[in-house]
Amino acid sequence: MQDYQNNYNNQGKKSKRKVPATHLINWVGGKRLLRKYLEPLVPDDIVSYIEVFGGGAWVLFYKDRWADLEIYNDFDSRLTNLFRVVKYHPQELRREMRFMLGSRELFEEFLYQEGLTDIQRAARFMYVITRSFGGKGSTFGTVKKSCGGASKSHQNLMDRAYAIHNRLDKVLIENRDFEKLIKQYDHESAFFYCDPPYTYGAGYSVTSTKDFEHERLRDCLKNIQGRFLLSYDDSEKVRELYKDYEMVEVERLNGINNRLGDERKNKMFKELIIANYPIREIFYERFHRNSA
Ligand SMILES: C[S@@+](CC[C@H](N)C(=O)[O-])C[C@H]1O[C@@H](n2cnc3c(N)ncnc32)[C@H](O)[C@@H]1O
Repeated sequence: MQDYQNNYNNQGKKSKRKVPATHLINWVGGKRLLRKYLEPLVPDDIVSYIEVFGGGAWVLFYKDRWADLEIYNDFDSRLTNLFRVVKYHPQELRREMRFMLGSRELFEEFLYQEGLTDIQRAARFMYVITRSFGGKGSTFGTVKKSCGGASKSHQNLMDRAYAIHNRLDKVLIENRDFEKLIKQYDHESAFFYCDPPYTYGAGYSVTSTKDFEHERLRDCLKNIQGRFLLSYDDSEKVRELYKDYEMVEVERLNGINNRLGDERKNKMFKELIIANYPIREIFYERFHRNSA
């Protein structure tokens, strides 16, 4: 889907290597594997594309452009600070990260640092996420057979940051609670992609799983003028909350378990895609011709 972007080498000169702007970091609940199902369901007559629960922004980065106005939002300021620094200060980020070697000692030191500038914060956050196990930012990512966190290419990381820097050129970055954001940008040609925390499973530093107000999100989306597309875990609770809307089911491999070879058979994960406009026909036409 992506055009390759211009990248820069360690000296800030244009590099011959081309890295696509498909992602910057892994993020818990990232929608790398769901993007291909979501993309055909996004209407093409939208004026604004708003990613309400941005995380690693895998869906936003799936296309070079979704709409005239594009907004990335997340309530976690570590993420919005990182994307703002990549957008406005890529060279300073590269300079800050130049001597950040893949080392367990550095990783553990960076987990607990305070009193940093925004650029230092962004560099350390990116380091910890990209060099941790499963992108969770908690334990140093070593694996026995291929290159894990410790030996990941630094050059590749920097090339990717420059590719994302170009992609973010006209993207507005917001750091708001979903309700305020949705109310602020709602109009009849607005499109909201919502990927909230699941009703069970991973919690996020801004909202633990049990604290996230799923009913508040449902009530907020109920009254909007624009259109929304929502991805969720396939649970009784979600089915009940959104019983008045069109929904389709997707079964996919869990991102991390995807790499475990034969064990993956047991690691399928069911998700629901829900919308306040028709999606079933397009979805079945495209992905399940015989099961509509
Ligand atoms: C499932 S993740 C999104 C993953 C993303 N789609 C991706 O591909 O990486 C959910 C995100 O919602 C954010 N979040 C949690 N509570 C929020 C709130 N009240 N308002 C806005 N964002 C919130 C979390 O910080 C987390 O990054």
